[in-house]
Amino acid sequence: MSTTIFDIKRPIESPERDPSTLSNYYAFNVNLTDIEYHVDWEKKILVGKVIYDLSIKESSQPSSIILDTSYLNVFKASINDEETPFVLDEKRLEPLGTKLSIPLHKWRTKTSSTKAQLKLSLEFSTTEKVTAVQWLEPEQTAGKTAPYLFSQCEAIHARSMYPCFDTPSVKSPMNISIYSIYPTVSSGNVVSKPSKPGSEIEPYVFKQELPIPSYLFAIASGDISNAPIGPRSLIYSEPSFLQACQYEFEADTEKFIEVAEKIVFPYEWKTYNVLILPPSFPYGGMENPNITFATPTLISGDRQNVDVIAHELAHSWSGNLVTNCSWEHFWLNEGWTMYLERRIVGSIHGEAYRHFSAIIGWKDLQDDIDSMSPATREKYSPLVVDLSNLADPDDAFSTVPYEKGFNLLFLIEQKLGGFKEFDPFIPFYFTKFRTQSLDTYQFKDTLYEFFKHKKDILDEIDWDTWFYSPGMPPVKPDFDTSLADACYALSAKWVDAALNAPKNATISYFKEKFSVENLKGWNSQQYLVFLDSVTDSPKIRWSDAAPSNAVKALGEIYKFESSSNPEVISRWFKIAVKARLGHESTYNPLANWLGTVGRMKFVRPGFRELAKVDKPLAISTFKKNELFYHPICRNMVSRDLGL
Ligand code: BES
Ligand code: ZN
Repeated sequence: MSTTIFDIKRPIESPERDPSTLSNYYAFNVNLTDIEYHVDWEKKILVGKVIYDLSIKESSQPSSIILDTSYLNVFKASINDEETPFVLDEKRLEPLGTKLSIPLHKWRTKTSSTKAQLKLSLEFSTTEKVTAVQWLEPEQTAGKTAPYLFSQCEAIHARSMYPCFDTPSVKSPMNISIYSIYPTVSSGNVVSKPSKPGSEIEPYVFKQELPIPSYLFAIASGDISNAPIGPRSLIYSEPSFLQACQYEFEADTEKFIEVAEKIVFPYEWKTYNVLILPPSFPYGGMENPNITFATPTLISGDRQNVDVIAHELAHSWSGNLVTNCSWEHFWLNEGWTMYLERRIVGSIHGEAYRHFSAIIGWKDLQDDIDSMSPATREKYSPLVVDLSNLADPDDAFSTVPYEKGFNLLFLIEQKLGGFKEFDPFIPFYFTKFRTQSLDTYQFKDTLYEFFKHKKDILDEIDWDTWFYSPGMPPVKPDFDTSLADACYALSAKWVDAALNAPKNATISYFKEKFSVENLKGWNSQQYLVFLDSVTDSPKIRWSDAAPSNAVKALGEIYKFESSSNPEVISRWFKIAVKARLGHESTYNPLANWLGTVGRMKFVRPGFRELAKVDKPLAISTFKKNELFYHPICRNMVSRDLGL
């Protein structure tokens, strides 16, 4: 047998070491994390104390405990209740932060046993440079009366909230206490609340019994109320928004949980709640355990964005129970989650819908890879990436781990003969790695272990190309295009009409040929496929005179700009920019829209489009809204715009 890249890259020991932490996590087990915060709304800081119950691994003899921090103030360290010296490095190592070392020599002589138990306690506070937390002024919320704060730790921002082994390889149960004058949620089940709301004497207490990594730690506090959306689920949001949020999710949440339980195994986290955040939340959703955080752009009134909930829920197994050991193997979190998400929605809406969603994903992947610079493509379009040498996981983020990862799993499923054949592997894999963190090598080994009798089939997969080559996957799976065909057909009609129109064809020329009836019976996913197909037709230059009028007509007939779905709006702006429809109809409305959405998926491409036609407007729009965006988003857009 010839040696493969896979064999060469395989580490001596799995799971592979995480290069995105400065800590010496590999020397310890964390048995329990106890964390307490006081929210200082005046100073906009969190004052905290974290206590780790640690044991030193048998094979290790660390001379200190080294933790990750980022822009934190550290006041005091103690071990086993005795104050002990600590060193916070003077120099920051971008983008990983600042090492915090607590020497152990004193304690090593005291503890004779090699299995030494250590209780490490640290007192600290966040600073104004915290990257994980956004503090909102009352005016930035829906109610406008109370301030608001929320965190977003994935991938490596937890270290700006508390000193930790900030790696998905370390997991521990957590006890969480938060003192805040406003209602507070966190990543565990609720144990108790202050007896009087508004009191700072008693904390909000949460317990996370399952071991979780630092990136899943989360808090939000503000004028937050809740309502039921299922037997084990609550929706949380600002009061004025609560009913709309409840309507959006109450029909699907429990159904999704039950379907997922059939595919994998019973839901282990007890409750599954969702918090709808203010508009600056930088992602669509974040799978914080017991409390998915989600963007308000999902609340469209038509339940058309519930796939995001299926996705975040699926993370309860893929990611939260079974975790990638480092961000180099992020596809194990997101590729698996896309696979489960599509199985969940497919089981409810049918196989054609699952395939349709996969077709959209394939297109997103193609677009994303096409838009990468050659260097980024080389570095970040393989499924397994190299994040050594101070790479920033936020820079590596793209649809690649999602869609290339999904397509690999989908291909495996198809090659084995369909999901009936593949299905028994799912509980096997999730049981084997339950509460653990793993790498791609362990994944592949487990697949071969389970399908011993089908080794020949698995050997047909070009693993090296899938894992390590840049660009699109080596194989495109067979998708059922039945739902997409109508979208392609209508798109072809528009392209033909624009191509065959007289040079001086006006808007009304096109309006005579099409009507809103064309979209009858379509779901909003189909609008997306239609718009993408029109936008990317290689046959036509939409900025030419007649085609540009065709796009104007298309907008006036179908009114995509006034859609309640940002997926639709963002695509409308893309084709409108491509057709150079001008400031009044497109660039100014696009700039205004960018001041209302904080989800990076829309903000970053939106600014990229705007910059193509009016860079000064893009820059002034960003400057105007800078404080509206979450720190992570602010950072990315400012880099995208070359500021
Ligand atoms: N875990 C991700 C969000 C994330 C990834 C945050 C990396 C920070 C770093 C979450 O589960 C996710 O994938 N959200 C998607 C929605 C989904 C339906 C694809 C999003 O935000 O768009
Ligand atoms: Zn995800």
